[in-house]
Amino acid sequence: MKISFSKISMPQKHNLVIFVYEGQKLTGSLKKIDLKTEGQISKAIKRSNFTGKNGQNIEVISPNKMNISRILLIGIGDIKKQDSLLAENIGGKTANLLNKSKVEIAYLIMDNLDGMQITFEKFCSHLLLGLRLSNYQFNKYLRNKLKERKNSLKEIFFMVNNFELIKKDFNSTSKIIDGVFLTRNLVSEPANELTPKSFAEITKKLEKPNMKVEILLPNQIKNLKMNALLGVAQGSINEPRVIVFRYNGGAKNEKPLSFIGKGVTFDSGGISIKPSQGMEDMKWDMGGAGVVAGLMSCLSNRKAKVNAIGVVGLVENMPSGSAQRPGDVVQSMSGQTIEVINTDAEGRLVLADILWYTQKKYKPSIMVDLATLTGAIIVALGEKYAGLFSNDDLLAERLIGAGKKVNELIWRFPLSEDYDKLINSQIADVKNVGSRGAGSITAAQFLQRFVNKTPWAHLDIAGVTWGNSSKPTVPKGGTGFGVRLLDQFIRDNYEK
Ligand code: BES
Ligand code: MN
Ligand code: ZN
Repeated sequence: MKISFSKISMPQKHNLVIFVYEGQKLTGSLKKIDLKTEGQISKAIKRSNFTGKNGQNIEVISPNKMNISRILLIGIGDIKKQDSLLAENIGGKTANLLNKSKVEIAYLIMDNLDGMQITFEKFCSHLLLGLRLSNYQFNKYLRNKLKERKNSLKEIFFMVNNFELIKKDFNSTSKIIDGVFLTRNLVSEPANELTPKSFAEITKKLEKPNMKVEILLPNQIKNLKMNALLGVAQGSINEPRVIVFRYNGGAKNEKPLSFIGKGVTFDSGGISIKPSQGMEDMKWDMGGAGVVAGLMSCLSNRKAKVNAIGVVGLVENMPSGSAQRPGDVVQSMSGQTIEVINTDAEGRLVLADILWYTQKKYKPSIMVDLATLTGAIIVALGEKYAGLFSNDDLLAERLIGAGKKVNELIWRFPLSEDYDKLINSQIADVKNVGSRGAGSITAAQFLQRFVNKTPWAHLDIAGVTWGNSSKPTVPKGGTGFGVRLLDQFIRDNYEK
């Protein structure tokens, strides 16, 4: 979708959208257009009981004396309530309405409004962000059905007097959306297309002068003794990869932030095989790795003033004659031995080695991992909140705060010695599942055994990585949850 900016003028063709706040009198552009259409707009407003409430809209087809197809009035609600999230939702709903009406090209008129909770410029740029986020589709594999299913919306002309600031703000924040879309694309790919190897090839293209992308091949992974990760991979003909993204935008001697992702390109469960019902969802078990790739590309594109490392462990978890068995014992890179009780608790095995590697090799100031780690987090929180686990209160607070700003909410769970005991093993240092109950917490306790003193947070994103229903700015499917949250977290705490 193309978005361009211009001063307010009367469009001569296509479609026109005007935003109306609650209780707005006929002023500004609304009045001009009402005059032009010989009172048709004011009449339509009256007859439909349109008050400008958020969620209300009316459509006037073939307005009088104008050569355009339609005028769409969209209510934005109370002017005093307008903030960035509301603006994004309004933008999202606008895109949905235009697509429903099969509109291809639209002019959006936005009169200068005062009295919002954010500046008018921010309001406009967030509205446009919402529009872009909502218009996303993953159409790559549609052939005959493409025409019928594709969003119609192609081009937006955003008309507002004094658009320079808005344009600047939008162009810079739009880079975050590019990162979100990369993540959504990766998450949407089927597992026959997105293997550890192809994931690495796709993200190798993110390499730039300010970002190195290093791909570790199976023999290098073996030399590093990442046996926990390798144990998961050994049942699949698709060999593992580890990718290290190194972004340099901060001072030379500044410790990097680090972001770690679970990248299971397909999780069949392995020998502890999953039921077939819903198993197709396990193509997005690389969601954490997808967020790390999207975030790193966003940091590099917007030239963030930080140093950051992204590390993802990519494997496919399959049953076969060479697969890992329940009861197997592996020695992780950290030296700790692990009894593999359940081969379906594979994400934590991958992360154990990746966390250890990141901490040892890059000595980061913080580590944040993202993983579609447990079904139990979906039982606890559903699709709205992700689970947060941390050994550091300040880090946890900062992540929660950033999430609130971008409507990617996270809820903190406890960690403690009592939970940690549940993963002691008879035969090895640790086992990869606890007893019944507290499944998401014991998974996090397992990860913590591979973290030393580094401030660390774990986001269990199993419930939020895939949306089963459409939201105003998040269409059904891959959500990209985490990219905006972490970008905001970095902006707020490390770039000021
Ligand atoms: N990838 C799954 C978790 C998951 C479930 C993600 C549903 C998204 C949707 C993970 O590898 C897994 O299988 N976890 C097991 C752990 C259990 C064996 C201790 C689970 O949650 O059932
Ligand atoms: Mn699993
Ligand atoms: Zn998994």
